[in-house]
This record gives sequence, C-alpha cells and structure tokens, in this order.
Amino acid sequence: MNRDQSIILLNQSVADELQSIHQYLNFHLYCQRYGYDMLANMFDRIAIVEIKHLELLADRISFLGGKIDLRLPNNIQHCTTAKAMVAMATEMETLSGKCYRRRALAMIENSDFVSQKLFEELALQEMEHGKVFYSKIRSLNDLSATVPCIAPSQFLRKKILEKEYCL
Ligand SMILES: [Fe+2]
Ligand SMILES: [Fe+2]
Repeated sequence: MNRDQSIILLNQSVADELQSIHQYLNFHLYCQRYGYDMLANMFDRIAIVEIKHLELLADRISFLGGKIDLRLPNNIQHCTTAKAMVAMATEMETLSGKCYRRRALAMIENSDFVSQKLFEELALQEMEHGKVFYSKIRSLNDLSATVPCIAPSQFLRKKILEKEYCL
C-alpha cells in the first residue's frame, strides 16, 4: 500500500467536504434570512453530516501519518432563488457520490481497504443526500408550474409553498 497515494485522495475528499460545508452553510443562512425555515434547516442538517464526513477523513489521514489540508478549494457560489440552491446542491451530491466511488476503486488498486470502505460508505451517504435534495427540486418544479417564480422577497408566496409542498 502506498500511503501517500491514499493521503492525496483523502485530502481531495476533505477539500470536497469543506466546499460542501461552506456552500450549505451559505445556503442555510440565506434561507434563514428570507424565512425559508424548512429549507434552512435541511441545509443546516446536511452541512453537519458533511462535517462528520470531514472528521472521518481527517481521522484516517492522521492514522496514516499525513497532514490534513483544510484550505477551501474554491469560492462559494451565490444563488438567488431557493430552486437554484437546491439544484446546485443536488449536482454537488451527485458529483460527490461519483468521486467517492472512483476513489474507492483506486483504494482497491492501492490495497488500502480501510480507506476503500470509508469511501464506499461516503458514496452511499452522498447519494442519499442527492435524493433528499432532488425530492425538494420536484416540489419546487411543481410549484413553478402554477406560480411563475420563487423569489426570497415574496414572503407570502413562500408561506403558501411551505404549507402546500412541505418544504
Ligand atoms: Fe460528505
Ligand atoms: Fe453530502
């Protein structure tokens, strides 16, 4: 087993998790500010799970004697509608699930079966997150069929949306 190779992939995963944590906290604060309470709670809840993922990856890096790289790889994106936020989160989770599956395969090649198991578990959890977000997109799509747009400032419309679509 090549430890450096494992540590590189584990640190790439730490970077991905950090990106998700920052992005979801941004979405959480945005939704909270405009009164999208249920969406705000969803982003907060999933951000906390991503923190746990980061901790698992960091533990593995430490065990392998590596240095944990906590630099944020990219700037966070700013979305102006709830639908755009949820769509972006769905894409992030789908991509993340694919990356973890690829990394799990790379760990088989590297004979690092502990990291392989960790990546496989994280892939499953990211796919679950993707499903959670996707189900929200569908609700938002349903709404947009009858209401032209969902702007955060449209407080009354949002309240109707939350009541009817259980966001
Ligand atoms: Fe994650
Ligand atoms: Fe996730």
